[in-house]
Amino acid sequence: MSAIVDPSKLVDPRSYGQNGLPHAEWARLRREAPVEYFEAPGFPPFWAITKHADIVEISKLPDVFLNAPGMTIARREALEAQAAPPIRTIINMDPPEHRKFRQIASAYFTPRAIQSLQPLVEKTARQLVDDLGREGECDFIARIASIHPLKVIARILGVPESDEPFILKLTNELFGSEDPEFQRTGDHFEHTKSLFMDFWTYFSAVIADRRKQPREDLATVIANARIDGKPMGDLETMGYCLITFTAGHETTRGSIGGGLEVLLDNPGELARWGREPGITPRAIDEIVRFVTPVNHMMRTAADDYTLRGRKIRKGDHLVLFYASANRDDEVFDAPDELHLDRHPNRHLGFGIGEHYCLGANLARMTSGTLFRELCGRIEQVERTGKSERTASNLVPGIKHLPIRYRLAPARD
Ligand code: HEM
Repeated sequence: MSAIVDPSKLVDPRSYGQNGLPHAEWARLRREAPVEYFEAPGFPPFWAITKHADIVEISKLPDVFLNAPGMTIARREALEAQAAPPIRTIINMDPPEHRKFRQIASAYFTPRAIQSLQPLVEKTARQLVDDLGREGECDFIARIASIHPLKVIARILGVPESDEPFILKLTNELFGSEDPEFQRTGDHFEHTKSLFMDFWTYFSAVIADRRKQPREDLATVIANARIDGKPMGDLETMGYCLITFTAGHETTRGSIGGGLEVLLDNPGELARWGREPGITPRAIDEIVRFVTPVNHMMRTAADDYTLRGRKIRKGDHLVLFYASANRDDEVFDAPDELHLDRHPNRHLGFGIGEHYCLGANLARMTSGTLFRELCGRIEQVERTGKSERTASNLVPGIKHLPIRYRLAPARD
């Protein structure tokens, strides 16, 4: 029997790069087969979970649906490489261990703690928009979307400005490992290993420094963390640096780049954001819903489980398509339309439950501040070419967005 939709469109990174997100396929699955088993060539078999309610149900059972050993769907050889790198991150851990490790950084990301970063985030956003000049042309991703979150996370972790280009290159290689523009050459296993070694070398020096000379940054918190009264292990310390940096950068870039793209398609909403800066808190959640920078996460069943009458077996992989859940018409009115004042907005763009995004408040502030600054100054903006998407099924963000713009002068 042939599959109800082409499974390659759901998981093949190249398909994301070429065709974008498979919204038509997801809409059909939500209607006809919301819990469906697929085999795509080269990938391990998986259940596609496309309804909002089912993703919520699964996410609230972290003892049954595990993040370890691999939390994203990848080609067989890449999945083996995912399990192989000698680094452990909280996103790959399960209860009860996960909670202990998550606590280490959680105080750093509360709304109150994040508030103290507002001046830094505003200054960075304003500087980047000022640097665009009154009018011109640029690739919005290279000039703004990838730079703003990079600068914010680099400051939080205490990475010096001069190292930002190097870190940006490593992040691109990690998330674009299937994209010809970014991928390292050679065999998948080898290039994953060499990439992790580069991260390791870089962050080892940062950690050693913060143990000798503690500062006020997140790297100091991570470098000196203790689990059950003992210093956190090297693999976990490294994993923490890696996850905060990479999870914080690529995703926020996705919301800013993808956000401008959808605003270009919705000029009325773009103009409204400029006129009504107070709309920002709701607007940014609507951007995250509509764009869904983190397309999916995978879980592995620790036990048999029945969902909508389908029998999931222990050891089966389940792919939670957040981007599909965010267009579920059982939860959202007119889900394919962008409404910046959408409320309530129970989107799953930051996940839900045990692994709910640790950096959600920071992500809202970083992208919200940028859009408030930018939309408040845009007099005119248009595309000058086609946008291009990264070949990734995890963070399939826009990698090039050529635009022409005219901006109002900076307000004091
Ligand atoms: C718009 C930007 C962002 C989006 C869309 C996003 C999305 C997500 C999602 C969907 C998850 C859940 C993963 C799962 O279900 O297993 C997650 C987890 C996580 N995110 Fe974010 N994220 C963003 C920004 C950030 C930032 C700025 C940081 C930190 C600087 C961050 C750090 C993390 C961490 C550490 C986790 C793992 C939490 C855990 O496993 O307990 N994220 N994020």
